[in-house]
Amino acid sequence: MDLSRAAAEALDAADPLAAFRDRFVIADDALYLDGNSLGRLPRDTPAALARVAEEQWGRGLVGSWSSWIGRATEIGDLLAAGVLGARPGEVLVSDSTSVDLYKLLVAGADARPGRDVLVCCADDFPTDRYLVAGVAQARGMEVREIAAHIDEGLDLDVLAAALDERVAVVVLSAVAYRSGALPDLAAVTRLVHDAGALVLWDLSHAAGAVPVELEAIGADLAVGCTYKYLNGGPGAPAFLYVRRDLADELRQPIWGWFGQRDQFAMGPAYDPAPGIERFGVGTPPVLGMAAVEVGARLVAEAGIDRLAAKGRALTDLVVALADEWLAPHGVVLASPRDADRRGSHISLAHPQAWQLTQALVDRGVVPDFRTPDRVRLGPAPLYTRFVDVWDAMDRFRAVLAEGAHEAYPTERARVT
Ligand SMILES: Cc1ncc(COP(=O)(O)O)c(C=O)c1O
Repeated sequence: MDLSRAAAEALDAADPLAAFRDRFVIADDALYLDGNSLGRLPRDTPAALARVAEEQWGRGLVGSWSSWIGRATEIGDLLAAGVLGARPGEVLVSDSTSVDLYKLLVAGADARPGRDVLVCCADDFPTDRYLVAGVAQARGMEVREIAAHIDEGLDLDVLAAALDERVAVVVLSAVAYRSGALPDLAAVTRLVHDAGALVLWDLSHAAGAVPVELEAIGADLAVGCTYKYLNGGPGAPAFLYVRRDLADELRQPIWGWFGQRDQFAMGPAYDPAPGIERFGVGTPPVLGMAAVEVGARLVAEAGIDRLAAKGRALTDLVVALADEWLAPHGVVLASPRDADRRGSHISLAHPQAWQLTQALVDRGVVPDFRTPDRVRLGPAPLYTRFVDVWDAMDRFRAVLAEGAHEAYPTERARVT
């Protein structure tokens, strides 16, 4: 690979998604490589929020509920078609990822009576593991935490060994939050189904970065954030997916009136609505959903295959430059080397990763620190240029060469 800056410029010139960068507010000159924590603000979002606030809320007042009431399923359908490879009526925008995980985990466990084991991955995002532990404790179930390689992700043989007729639900991330490792989603789903269990995917780092093809792989259940590659903004509501033929068989544990059949009949007892709507709980965040819609439309317009291809190329460039410039300073690739086996972010391990992260931020590069010793770089294919990656890595090598990171605190004060 040609590692010159001119080669990076040439990649940008040939990038079919290059024009999407102008669809985002880029008011800073930061080399922003944290789009997998909080995606950038789409240009259309402030106007979409203002429309809901000024026209619909300000003028339409309570009458606007006639148009708001169906938004959670309408935007769910947008995500289904443009991002998740799911069918209409299989996706709902609601609550947070953590709450949606809880709802689907309990619903899934209830759907497998007589089975008393929940499986999750020891290296998965904390909220997933905590929720599995909490649900297991409340129900008197056992947790099987399977080990995964911190850099390479899940080994299917390890998963297979944890599956038997006691397992009710398996919770796994499609893209690992730290390493970016991406298992074969179809193969995992088959394994779990062969054991008679349900699989609940956390798509937070996958949605908008890689094709997940939920219908094609026969996925059961899934949840995910919308504020990462979907650019829905801070605190944007999450999405949940339930396979069409499963929905009516499942009961979620939070019996709210937004999951109720004939909601405004104000009936005496909870009777869940048919289909995906039964997974709603309370009044949805209308402003937040307006921002999710803008983000979902952008991803759908760009096309998930083109986004994934650019994500592979951007992260390939990170890897090549890390090998060439950073490895001599003790930086080690902590993500799968095969671009087909990872999402759109890369982790690099170094004993002083926290100091390096601080030094990079002060030099205009925005990565993330991840425990125990990783600098995580998430170039977002919608708006990150190849020259941004090149420049960020160039500053990274300068920090290491000058030892600039040595001046920074070694202890993290607080999580940001
Ligand atoms: C993989 C993964 N799952 C779940 C969550 C939690 O989502 P929320 O805080 O919106 O519930 C996050 C947040 O970053 C995440 O990265």
